[in-house]
Amino acid sequence: MQQCPFKNILDPDIYVDGSHHAVFAEVREQSGGLAYIQDPITNVPYWAVMKRSIADYICKNPLLFSSQAKTILPKEMPEEEVALSRLMLVNMDPPEHVKYRRIVRNAFTPKAVQGYEQRFREVAKETIDKVASKGECEFVTEVAAELPLIAIMSLCGIPMEDKQQFFDWTNTMIFTEDEDMSGEDGIAASQAAAIEVYAYAANLAEKHKRESLSDIVGALLDGTVNDDKLTPEEFQLFFLMLIAAGNESTRSVIAHGMRLLIEHPDQLQKLIDDPSLIPFAVEEILRYNPAFVQMRRTVMEDVEIEGQKLKAGDKMVLNWQAINHDPEIFENPETFDVERFKKKPELNNQHRAFGNGEHFCIGAHMSRMEMQVMFEELIPRLRNPRFSQPVAFVRDYFVNGIKSMNITFDAEQAS
Ligand code: HEM
Repeated sequence: MQQCPFKNILDPDIYVDGSHHAVFAEVREQSGGLAYIQDPITNVPYWAVMKRSIADYICKNPLLFSSQAKTILPKEMPEEEVALSRLMLVNMDPPEHVKYRRIVRNAFTPKAVQGYEQRFREVAKETIDKVASKGECEFVTEVAAELPLIAIMSLCGIPMEDKQQFFDWTNTMIFTEDEDMSGEDGIAASQAAAIEVYAYAANLAEKHKRESLSDIVGALLDGTVNDDKLTPEEFQLFFLMLIAAGNESTRSVIAHGMRLLIEHPDQLQKLIDDPSLIPFAVEEILRYNPAFVQMRRTVMEDVEIEGQKLKAGDKMVLNWQAINHDPEIFENPETFDVERFKKKPELNNQHRAFGNGEHFCIGAHMSRMEMQVMFEELIPRLRNPRFSQPVAFVRDYFVNGIKSMNITFDAEQAS
C-alpha cells in the first residue's frame, strides 16, 4: 500500500509542544487545501479541510456534510455514545437543529450581551485584583478561566460555590486525551464527570418546578420543539453542552492571547499605548489560535470538491486553525499583527474561529465581550509580563488548550 504523504493531524502528540501550525502549513501546501489522510491510530482515514473557500462550502451545505451522522467530534465513538451526543444542538442537522437553537438564542443576542458587560467587567477587575500585587501567577487557572466560567454559570443561575466543581468537570469531559487533565482512563473519567453534570441539571429542573427560574435553564425547560417540551435527557445534554462550550473555549483563547502578547512584546506595547486597538487584537487572537482546532463532518452523498472525489460516509475534519491561516485570505498568516483587522476592515468576519453558517457559534458575541473586557483590565495592570516556566500545552487535537502558563510581571504597589 502506498504510504500516506501527509502527517496525521489527529495525532494528539503533535499538539504537545504547540508547533502544530507548521504541520498544518505543510499539509496545506502539499495538498492544496483538501488532504486525504490515513490515521494509523483509529484506522479511519479522513479528508482534512485547510482552505477557507472549501470550509465555507461545507458549512453552507449542512445536509450534504452532516454534523449529526457521527457528531462534530473528530474522535471515534461507540454508536450508543454517538446516539446520545446527537441530542446536543451542535450535533444536529436541519430542519431539527434550528428549532432547538431558537430556544436559547435570545440569551446570546448582541443586545443581551451588552446587558452583561458591567458584570463581566467587575469580574475581570476582581480577577486582576487577586493577582496584581503578587507579581506572578499561573495565568490559566488564576486569570483566563475565571470570567468565562463565572459568565456561563451566572447565565445558568448556578451558585458560585460550585465553580471549582464545574471547572474540574469541564476539564475532565473535554480533555480526554491528556492524562494530566482527565486522569489515566480519560474516557471513563469523562463519562463519570458527564453523569455528575446530568445529575446537577436534573436538580435544576426540580428547582424550576418549585420556583420558576428565569435564566437560560428556565428558557430550556419552558421551551418547546414541535409543541413538545425537551425530554429530561435532551435538557441535560443541552445544559452540558452550554457549560462545556461556554467556558473552556474562551478560557483557551484568553490564555493563547496572553501567550501571543508575551511572545510579541512589540504588539503588546501597541495595546498599552492605544487600548482602542484591543477589539482588533481580540479578532487577531481568535484568528491565530481559535479554541477549537478541528471539528468533524460526514459526507452524506458522493460529491466532487476541487477535483477530488469524496464518497458518502467519508469522514471530514474542518481544521479551523488552518482555515484561519489560509494565505488566500490572510496576508502573511503566520504573522501575529494586532492591527491586522484595523488596517483591513474588509477582513471583518473573515476568520472562522466561530465557524460559519447553520452552526455559527451562538456564544460568539458573549465570548468576544469577555475577551475584550479581560484584556482591557489586564493589559494596563500586569506590566512587563514574561514566562517563568515553559508553557504547557494540552495534548489534544480538538481543543487548543493551555494546561499551565506560569508568568511573572511587575507587582502592583498598594496605593
Ligand atoms: C472563544 C470562544 C469560542 C469559540 C472559539 C467557539 C467556537 C465555536 C465553533 C467553531 C462552533 C461551530 C461548530 C460547528 O460548526 O460544528 C461553535 C458552536 C457553538 N458554540 Fe461556541 N465558541 C466559543 C465560545 C462559546 C460560548 C461562550 C458559548 C456559550 C455560552 C458557546 C456555545 C456554542 C454553541 C451552543 C454552539 C453550537 C451552535 C449550533 O450548533 O447551532 N461557544 N462554537
